[in-house]
Amino acid sequence: MTQHTSLFEPLSLRGLSLPNRIGLSPMCMYACEPDGLATPWHLVHLGARAIGGAGLIVTEATAVSPQARISNADLGLWSQAHADALRPITAFIEAQGSVPGIQIAHAGRKGGTPRPWLGRKPLPRADGGWDVLAPSPLRFSDHSAAPLEMSERDIAQTSTDFVRAATLAYDAGFRYLELHFGHGYLAHQFLSPLTNLRQDDSGGSFENRTRFVRDITAGVRAAWPDDLPLAVRLSMTDWREDGWDLDDAVRLAADLRSLGVDLVICSSGAIVPGSHPPEGAGMQIPFARRVRAGAGIAAGAVGQITQAEQAQDLIASGGADLVFLGRAMLRDPYWAIHAAEELGQPARWPTPYARAVGRRLVDAS
Ligand SMILES: Cc1cc2nc3c(=O)[nH]c(=O)nc-3n(C[C@H](O)[C@H](O)[C@H](O)COP(=O)(O)O)c2cc1C
Repeated sequence: MTQHTSLFEPLSLRGLSLPNRIGLSPMCMYACEPDGLATPWHLVHLGARAIGGAGLIVTEATAVSPQARISNADLGLWSQAHADALRPITAFIEAQGSVPGIQIAHAGRKGGTPRPWLGRKPLPRADGGWDVLAPSPLRFSDHSAAPLEMSERDIAQTSTDFVRAATLAYDAGFRYLELHFGHGYLAHQFLSPLTNLRQDDSGGSFENRTRFVRDITAGVRAAWPDDLPLAVRLSMTDWREDGWDLDDAVRLAADLRSLGVDLVICSSGAIVPGSHPPEGAGMQIPFARRVRAGAGIAAGAVGQITQAEQAQDLIASGGADLVFLGRAMLRDPYWAIHAAEELGQPARWPTPYARAVGRRLVDAS
């Protein structure tokens, strides 16, 4: 795989060119009414990071059906009305020179909650709560809803829901699509032996536990345009001896590559309470290098990337094809522009802001 030299060099994935290698990592905003329709919050939040120079802007985990939501305030994409509400956002992002991306997801047993700051207990039915699904009937924690074990029909329906969301995503103007297969949500619940105790052909062996994600990937790839990239986000390890591990994740990445996946975003953990990366800066960052080498696929690094030099070194040394930033870009929407200034690269301040950075709007001479 080719080595890259700069965070600010474009990245081509199929027919799509990202203007730089900086992505806004998907982050739930819990800003919807229970209908899952995008609101002004999403336009301003995502739009501000596009103004701020990130080459790729990815929405929060967007539910493929009402039952797929984490909370009743999640963004959704299961009808034409959802696509229509997102279209002004993708148009705005594109107008800033960034690529509009979406992460589509199903929460499985981690769903059915209110906004997180309203408590961790399941949402009562009277307040709009719903039955949560999982490969096996195991709660996430003592506070969580007891999930229903998915039938074969539920499994097939979920694949259909992902494909419908992919089609709607294109219609809404997204040009980068990411499938959320990590962080302890439904797909990861199938992958991990800690949460998948099924006896049928979706449980047991590696091949069986990965069937659900391979089927979704194949269905989505067939529906998503050939000239546009498909990405997946994986938890590369459960951080548990008896869990899903890095070798499993690299093997799956190679399988997904053969199904037409172009990029793996290398995250980790969150399958059971406490399965988080160990303390310390950037514990999951090295996973991207491992996936690039082991699966021969482009990889995105994420997790405690905060400094321009750190991101630049990662790209320049072949440790990742692009970087995703979460919290650092919540703190600073202009992170990418500030990084360009720090690294001596041309900074993409928008023209209406020119006077703030010492540029004249018209030549006075
Ligand atoms: C408020 C918040 C919401 C998040 N929501 C999502 C999400 O919807 N999908 C996802 O894949 N990761 C989600 N994450 C994880 C981030 O995308 C990112 O992987 C994580 O914060 C580590 O990167 P950072 O150290 O740059 O923040 C969320 C993180 C935060 C802080």
